[in-house]
This record gives sequence, C-alpha cells and structure tokens, in this order.
Amino acid sequence: MMIKTTSVLGKAAVARGLVKAIFTVKPDERLTQTYHGIEFASPVGLSAGFDKNGEIMPMISRLGFGFGTVGSVTAKQCDGNPRPWFYRLPKSKSLVINAGLANDGSTAILKRIHNYSKTAIRQFPIVLSVAKTNSCDVVSIREGIEDYVTTVKRAKDQPRIKVIELNVSCPNTYGGEPFTTPEKLEKLLKAVDVVGAKQPIFIKMPIDHEWPDFQQLLNVILKHKVAGVTISNLYKDRTSADLKDVLPDSVKGNLSGKPTWQRSNDLIQRTYREYGDKLTIIGVGGIFTADDAYTKIKLGASLVEIITGVIFCGPQLAAQISYDLSKLLERDGYTHISQAIGVDSGEKN
Ligand SMILES: Cc1cc2nc3c(=O)[nH]c(=O)nc-3n(C[C@H](O)[C@H](O)[C@H](O)COP(=O)(O)O)c2cc1C
Repeated sequence: MMIKTTSVLGKAAVARGLVKAIFTVKPDERLTQTYHGIEFASPVGLSAGFDKNGEIMPMISRLGFGFGTVGSVTAKQCDGNPRPWFYRLPKSKSLVINAGLANDGSTAILKRIHNYSKTAIRQFPIVLSVAKTNSCDVVSIREGIEDYVTTVKRAKDQPRIKVIELNVSCPNTYGGEPFTTPEKLEKLLKAVDVVGAKQPIFIKMPIDHEWPDFQQLLNVILKHKVAGVTISNLYKDRTSADLKDVLPDSVKGNLSGKPTWQRSNDLIQRTYREYGDKLTIIGVGGIFTADDAYTKIKLGASLVEIITGVIFCGPQLAAQISYDLSKLLERDGYTHISQAIGVDSGEKN
C-alpha cells in the first residue's frame, strides 16, 4: 500500500515539492562525493528490495537519499515465493525476508524509469540491482548468465541508470545462491564484461562466507570490469544470529537488519584493508542511526545503504542520518567525509 500510494503521489509535482520541503535537509558539501563520474549529494542510499519495480524513485530522491536502488530486477517477470514474504522481529531490529525476487521484469521496469518526467528525477543516481529470474526455467549456469546479461544489455544505454549492481547473493531463490563460488562468478563476470555497459558495475556480496572464501570472490572480481562491491546481503544462518524475538521454524526466509551488522562490518573492514585502493565499497547491514553509518564509513565504506532502518524508523531516516553525519564529522575535526573513510580499517596484513 505504501509503495502504491507513494508512486501515485510521486507523479504530482506539488506532492514531491511538499515531501522535499518537509524531509530534505540542506545539501552539505562535506557529504558530497563523486565516484566513477557520478555525484552523490549524500552518502546514504536506499538499498535493494524496497522499490522492487522502480515505482517510487521520484519520492525517494526528495527524501534526502543520495542515491536509490531499484530491484532486484530480473529478465523475466516473476511472482516471487508463496506469501508471506516478510516477518517482523522488532526486538531484534530485523525482518525475515522471503520475497524471492518478485518483480515486473526488467523491460517493464526500465520503461517505467525511462518514463519518469524530466522534473521528477533530475540528476538523482539510480542503481539497478540485477538478479536472475527466480524460476524453474532458469536453473543451469548458462541460463542464469543469460538472464543477467539480458537485463544488463537492456540497461546499458539507459541514461537514468547510473550504476548496475549484480546481485549474485540472493539467498531465497530457486536453486539457492548460484554465483557465489569463484568458478561460477568468473563465468558470469566474463559474460558481463563482453556487454560493455557504460555504467560502473558493483557486486552485491554474500554475508555468510568466511573471509578466505570471500577473498577468493574478491580476487575473481578484481580481474573484471567491476568498480566496487556492496557488502552485504541477508544473513542466512539464523542459529548463529543474536535474536531477541521468537522465530518459529515455520517462518521461511533470511534475516535483515541488526543480525547483519557485525559480519558486514568485519567484511567491509577487511575488504577495505586489502582492496580499498581497487574497489569502492558500499556498506549495508544494520544501519539505524548516523553513528551506525559513520562506523561503516570509518571501517572503509565510501557510501552506505539502508532499508530495514527505513521500514522500522520511517521515511525521514536518510535525511536524519545525513544531518547527524555532518555533526559527527564536525565533532571529529573532519572538513569532508572522504577524510573519515577507512580510518578504523587497521593495518594492511
Ligand atoms: C524487504 C527487503 C527486501 C530485500 N530485497 C532484496 C533484493 O531484492 N535484492 C538485494 O540485493 N537485496 C535485498 N534485500 C537485502 C538488502 O538490500 C540489504 O542488503 C540487507 O537487508 C541489509 O541491510 P539492512 O540491515 O538495512 O536491511 C532486501 C532486504 C529487505 C529488508
């Protein structure tokens, strides 16, 4: 209901103006950064999974976000997994997600984004999160690669898509996570290289890999035309998650929010330490406050993303975090956010 209402309101310039007046804080030059030729007015973006069909980017751009992710989208339309898709764990600040990549398909979604009016979106950077269709028709590695490549080809000449993020780590789909082994990732990235997309490519990383396995994936990524990594996706191992709510076994899905916090931080820190000069890091997982965002930035994230925080705390969260981040920079004597990136990443091994 929220997406539908926001989508309708987003078509009206008056409603967009009103939302902007209420929620947006004054742009702060100290938070503005340029990566891969794209200007981000704030480091706080909307993570994949909120605007699955590209319906509300005009409103997201008025809510103080520095960028917004659409998707994950797939080559074919997909109804997703049988409902329910979401289960709230409020004491744990987490959601159990089992949507299974429900989306309208990349052709329809890219058309929708293309059709936003000129004034609705302006220069707001849109990231397109691309996954493979969750269907028993797309099971083999060859079919999976074809599915990703089809969407990347559709997106590559779309001027409104500023970044393409390959979601290789969606855990709750038909056939599991097929592209999180070095061999399969290598095949996928080889095929995506050939497409020659103009946009920088990011990889949405899995969270459950131990560092040596994660590092092997990074070593594959470095051999290809990849600009950065988004760390990380949902947490699968609910037995090791620190949950403060009862989670019945009958509830299917994987965990977002606070259960992803520590592991995502560890992976950001180690990735920055080893590869910070080669890959841009987007940090995501368990951000509810500016302090949380700042922690990830100091560990090595250049940009951060939120989603569970928005669902629990409300649409003002991005603007609030940006406003408070400026105060944190001031407190620590930094004149620009770039000075804080990676300061807590430790010594390179
Ligand atoms: C409702 C919901 C839907 C999601 N769907 C996707 C998705 O389609 N693609 C994807 O890459 N990640 C998806 N995610 C994972 C988030 O993008 C993010 O990586 C993860 O939830 C950690 O961030 P958070 O702690 O702010 O939720 C989803 C998360 C949530 C909460």
